[in-house]
Amino acid sequence: MKNSEKICIVTGASSGIGFGIAKSLIGDNHIVIATARRKENLTKLDISPENLFAGDLNQPELQDSLIDFAFNKYGRCDYLFNCAGTLETGTIEDINIERLSAMLRLNVEATFRLTYAMLKRFKKQGFGHIVNISSVLGTKVRVTAGGYAATKFAMEALSEALRMELTGTSIKISCIEPGLVMTELHKNWEVHPKESMGITEPLTVENIVESVKFIMNQPEHVRIPKLMILPKDHNI
Ligand SMILES: NC(=O)c1ccc[n+]([C@@H]2O[C@H](COP(=O)([O-])OP(=O)(O)OC[C@H]3O[C@@H](n4cnc5c(N)ncnc54)[C@H](OP(=O)(O)O)[C@@H]3O)[C@@H](O)[C@H]2O)c1
Repeated sequence: MKNSEKICIVTGASSGIGFGIAKSLIGDNHIVIATARRKENLTKLDISPENLFAGDLNQPELQDSLIDFAFNKYGRCDYLFNCAGTLETGTIEDINIERLSAMLRLNVEATFRLTYAMLKRFKKQGFGHIVNISSVLGTKVRVTAGGYAATKFAMEALSEALRMELTGTSIKISCIEPGLVMTELHKNWEVHPKESMGITEPLTVENIVESVKFIMNQPEHVRIPKLMILPKDHNI
């Protein structure tokens, strides 16, 4: 194994930001362990099928098997990219409560649990980097986005607590806070947010990948706990 080769677990790797990050890591000759529910999309990453874990991230067994695989096969893990997430909108009064609960389970509970389990391994090996894909909505609330923002505020709290708790160690935590990115996240929306928000040029997955590369390329003593990235028309 080459010294520069990183072992990376990527959740939400079947589309959008997670797929883009996984693809870029593979292109840079890193080892990717990818997970999401849609197996057919994961196979498009064109890596060994044993590195693909198709399933629901809410299942603790799936999370454990990702981590066990990394350590059993490669003896370590360098990066955890928490990209899996869903978006449900609606006023607090009218939002579909079952879908809201499912979002809370995935965006908050699954992210916290996977991070908790990985942290124990990172502590044991003495290094590691967790990269959380939060949102600009992890820093402010918008009408009809209270539920989603709550999940991203939780991710920010997790990241900020870890930043302080890991001070002085070689374990890093970074939280990326994108504005609107063109992915499948809004695919079922009647009016796409680029119309309702007047965003002429939303971010691309490549823009987020570049911010990930920036974070990964920092020297050992540098920490990037937060990185907000917005399209030029974002005005709220
Ligand atoms: N797009 C934006 O404007 C934007 C802005 C800020 C932040 N973000 C955040 O970026 C992250 C990635 O979103 P995206 O924009 O790339 O959207 P996306 O293309 O819809 O990607 C979401 C990913 O999450 C996975 N996922 C959903 N439910 C899952 C489950 N129960 N178990 C396992 N995986 C699950 C999906 O895979 P499967 O369906 O195959 O399971 C997919 O790979 C999310 O956390 C989102 O909140 C997005």
